[in-house]
Amino acid sequence: MILNWTQTSREIYENLKNNIWNLADAPTLWAILVWDSPASLRYIKQKRKFAKKIGMWFELIQRDENISQEELLETIQTCNTSENISWYIVQLPLPKHIDTNKIIESIDPKKDVDGFHPENQWKVMIHDNSGFVPCTPAGVIHLLSEYKVELSWKKVCIIGRSNIVGKPLALLCINAGATVSVCNSRTPKLEDFTISADIIICATGIPHLVKPGMTHKNAIIIDVWFSVVDGKIMGDADTQAFLDAGNSITPVPGWVGPMTVAMLMTNTYLAHTQKYEK
Ligand code: GUN
Repeated sequence: MILNWTQTSREIYENLKNNIWNLADAPTLWAILVWDSPASLRYIKQKRKFAKKIGMWFELIQRDENISQEELLETIQTCNTSENISWYIVQLPLPKHIDTNKIIESIDPKKDVDGFHPENQWKVMIHDNSGFVPCTPAGVIHLLSEYKVELSWKKVCIIGRSNIVGKPLALLCINAGATVSVCNSRTPKLEDFTISADIIICATGIPHLVKPGMTHKNAIIIDVWFSVVDGKIMGDADTQAFLDAGNSITPVPGWVGPMTVAMLMTNTYLAHTQKYEK
């Protein structure tokens, strides 16, 4: 069976649209874009498109790719102190000369709807629901719940250890009662970990790293990333081989983007209503 990101996110957008329609004043999401790489432009385009669709304002602050770290920190300080800017994100990745951790640490955690600031990540760690949850991991948990896949008592193998996907996702799965192993693209004998997992979540960008022989026959595969090889979009998992083998899998092509953005809009909407509409 195909687990469909786009279809699942559609319902979230419908609900947000109805809820925002009923607000006296719609929220505005601000985005700082420094490096207009194709992936970042694609994300920004989606954020703008979906914001428009649900009646949320979207404002882009574009800075030159050669901006210095100090200048970017100043821009962030302006966002932190501005009364007009309640919620904002810094689109990643940043250019190599910028220290990404320093930038993320400088964002006001109360405006950090991406959930990247250490304070928000820490709240995920201690299972405190008062912070912002990073959007792609939140989207994975939402997708599983929509397809009635329980995490409690399940074995989950996550392949990927990034700060914005693999690590927070591991914590969310632990919080939901799963037994979690966190691997990466260089884990020796990866199949030793994948073979016994009920749910495999891959986010590495290595084409067809996961194949049916490495998993047990009922494993559910959540493929969060993709790569382009000779112009062909390929997932971390071999989608067709898993479908042929009868597994449930998120398809590639068919990326996580709409779900990530749906979670971003949800974080923004909820924060806005808690701040202004109480
Ligand atoms: N780059 C890839 N995914 C994301 C995301 O969820 N948020 C931001 N800000 N940048 C990203």
